[in-house]
This record gives sequence, structure tokens and C-alpha cells, in this order.
Amino acid sequence: QAALAAEQRGWHLYLVGGGVRDLLLADTEKVINLQDVDLVVDGYHRAAQPGAGVELAKVLQQHYSGARLQIHGQFQTAALLWHKHPELGSLWVDIATARTEFYPYPAANPEVEASSIRQDLYRRDFTINALALRLTPPRIGEVLDFFGGILDLEAQLMRVLHANSFIEDPTRIYRAVRFAVRLGFRLEGQTEGYIRYAIASGVYDLSVAENNRAPALQTRLKNELKYILEAPYWKRAIQLLGNLDALKCIHSCLELTPELWKQLKLVDRCLRRFNPPGLCPPWQLLLEVMIAYLAPEYRYWVASGFQLPAESIERLKDLEAAKTTILSLLPTCESPSTMVNALQPYRFSTLILVMVQSPRVLRRKIWLYLWKLAQAKPILNGNDLKQLGYKPGRQFKVILDKLLEMTLDGELTDRASAEAFLQK
Ligand code: CTP
Repeated sequence: QAALAAEQRGWHLYLVGGGVRDLLLADTEKVINLQDVDLVVDGYHRAAQPGAGVELAKVLQQHYSGARLQIHGQFQTAALLWHKHPELGSLWVDIATARTEFYPYPAANPEVEASSIRQDLYRRDFTINALALRLTPPRIGEVLDFFGGILDLEAQLMRVLHANSFIEDPTRIYRAVRFAVRLGFRLEGQTEGYIRYAIASGVYDLSVAENNRAPALQTRLKNELKYILEAPYWKRAIQLLGNLDALKCIHSCLELTPELWKQLKLVDRCLRRFNPPGLCPPWQLLLEVMIAYLAPEYRYWVASGFQLPAESIERLKDLEAAKTTILSLLPTCESPSTMVNALQPYRFSTLILVMVQSPRVLRRKIWLYLWKLAQAKPILNGNDLKQLGYKPGRQFKVILDKLLEMTLDGELTDRASAEAFLQK
């Protein structure tokens, strides 16, 4: 429908970006289901007006009902989202008008002016993402490959389009790593050199320091980190980022030291063992571990720059105080019940952050609490007490707390011992 509407108006329409890459990588026997489609409109006989993408989006919205339409006027793009459409399923379609972006200063938002499809592709991140598939005549189905993307797909290489790419947009470093690990590709030598150069140049120290000026950049960086940390391959991606020294984009002091790597793996083990209600999402906890690895004075600043949820920002802000209290109390806890009393006031997420930074003996105690003691229940519950003739009221809690304490400390092992204690 969009192609037809574009053709009627004398425009060209292309599928671009990841969709073309994934189509070319897919097994030819398989039907691939694109859920995120990027389209670009380009003028052929006459220039596409700046609002061409928006106009086509409106045509699609009318044709396939139920779409939510967002228009990003400044960038002349439209986004359409269908949720469980009978024909389309759940589908996200971005339609842009072919454009050139130029960056007035490093790491700033791109500004836009109408231009041709080649220019549009040239502003993209990697050769394998800078391919376009023609959807309008003549030569429907032709792949436009101006920068050697098909050769790089075959050679399994992540190659950047121009030397300044990473200086303009640090999130591309994270994207390079994400695609390389996900697709099993290598970073092409010169591209790796550009990444290292961009990081060593310190340009991101500036963009992070001025995170008030570039909140959009921080959000995009956080989103890339989220993609990586949510993916099954996150460990390999973090190692590659560490190897490139790219954690510096989070904060100029952040490095993937053996200690930080150990902490991340510990959290991973912890998350595999248990996932109690109320624990923050795993990707966020991993990111918090990285932020918590920074000196206390930077944590709040980085977490709020990333616009993490308020609870997470608070946790990182107060982490040092919580850690000091916990690490001074724990050595004095000799019984399980005293450990429970000491650790109960803290959320699991806080305890995990403290645990990974604690010495071995205390780490084991927190692990025992998280894994076992926090889940313990008294041998008798409120109903049992009623049956034993106790009247509900304030004393219930006192009795249940005492029963829990004795259960934790192994003084009560079964119902009979609990009932015998109550009779005494
Ligand atoms: N793009 C870019 N620079 C960025 C982000 C995106 O050049 N910092 C371009 C790339 O051409 C990319 C396209 O925008 O292919 C769409 O971006 P996105 O949807 O984030 O990535 P996909 O390539 O579609 O990958 P994925 O499969 O992970 O969605």
C-alpha cells in the first residue's frame, strides 16, 4: 500500500536498515517475519516533500485500522504501531523522508535536510545497515548497495561508513559490539581503530559531563546497554566492550577490571538461582552493578543521567551508607535470626549490590539470607494459632515472630516442638 501510494505521487520507496540486512542473512527457505520495518521515501522525478513520510504513514493508517501514529516533525519521520492486527500482527513501521544529517558538534542531535537515498544511507552506522531494497518501479526488488554492504555480510564484518561515525554518535560503539556478537561477525580492523581512537580522544567524557545538554544521547546509550544486557549473549558483548575500553562511555573512570567482571558474573549466578518478586529487571541490576563499581560520588550523577527509575537512583545514592551499616552489623550476627533482623530492612536489589562488593565471608552470609533465610516461614501460622485457641490480636505477631526466630535458629524443627513450646 505504501509503495503504491508513493508510486502514484512520483516518489520512490525503499526498505532500509536492519530489515534488508536480516532478509539477506536469512535462510532463503524460511519466511522471515519483520516486526520492525524502516522505510525511506525519496523523490525521483521530483523531490519528495519534507512531509512525504508522514503522508504515506497516514495512507497506511487509513488502510490498516488500529494503528497508533507518532510524528516526529523535526526529523520528518512518522512511526506507526499496530498491536495484534489481524493481517499485520504486531508491527512497528518507521517512515522517513530521505535525508542528510549533519552534526553541528560531536555527539549532538542530528539536524535534517531533504536529500537523496544515497545520502540517507551514507549517514547510517555500518555498511551492512546501509542497504536499501527498492519497493517501487522500475526494478522493484533491486538492492541498492553503495558502500559494499553485501560483501561485508558475506565476509561477516562490521564496517563503519566513515571515520567520524563514532565521534558523532557513541551509541554506535555499543551497536557495533551488539551486532558483532549477535551475528557472530568481526569488527573490521579500521573500524576497531576508529572506535579505539574515539574512546581515547575523550570526546565522551565531554558528552557525559554535559549530560544535561544531551539527555537524548544518554537515553539512547541506556537503550543500547539495555538491549545488550537483556540479550542471552550479554557476557560476550560486555567482554568485547571492556576490551575496547568502551565502558568509558558510561563514565570515564569505568573499566572492565577482573573484579567488576567477577561481580557481574556473581549477579548472573544469583539471578539464575532466584528471582524474587520486587527485584528490579535483570538488565537494570547488571547496569547498577557497573554504576556501583564507580566511586560513590559519581553514582547518583550517572544513574540520573541515564534516567533510571527513581528507586534505582535512590538505591545507588544511598548504597555507601547501606553498605557501611550492613558490613558493620553482619560480623556481629551469630545466629540466623539476628542476620534476618539485620538484613530485613533492605530490598533484595540493594543487598545484591552490597553482596557483590563484600568480602567473601560476609558475601556468603548475604547469599544465605537471600537464598534461604528470607524465604523462611514460622512452623505454625495464624490459622494454627487460632485452632490452638489463641485469639487474633497484637500478640499473634509477637508469637509468630518468636516462632520464626526459633525456627530459623533450629530450636523448633516440627509442629510438635512448636506446640510444646507454646504450652510452656
Ligand atoms: N541507525 C544508525 N545509527 C544509529 C542507530 C540506527 O545509523 N545510532 C540506522 C541503521 O541503519 C539501522 C537503522 O537506523 O539499521 C534502524 O535502527 P534500529 O532499528 O535501531 O536497528 P536495526 O538495524 O533495525 O537492528 P535491530 O535488528 O536490532 O532492530
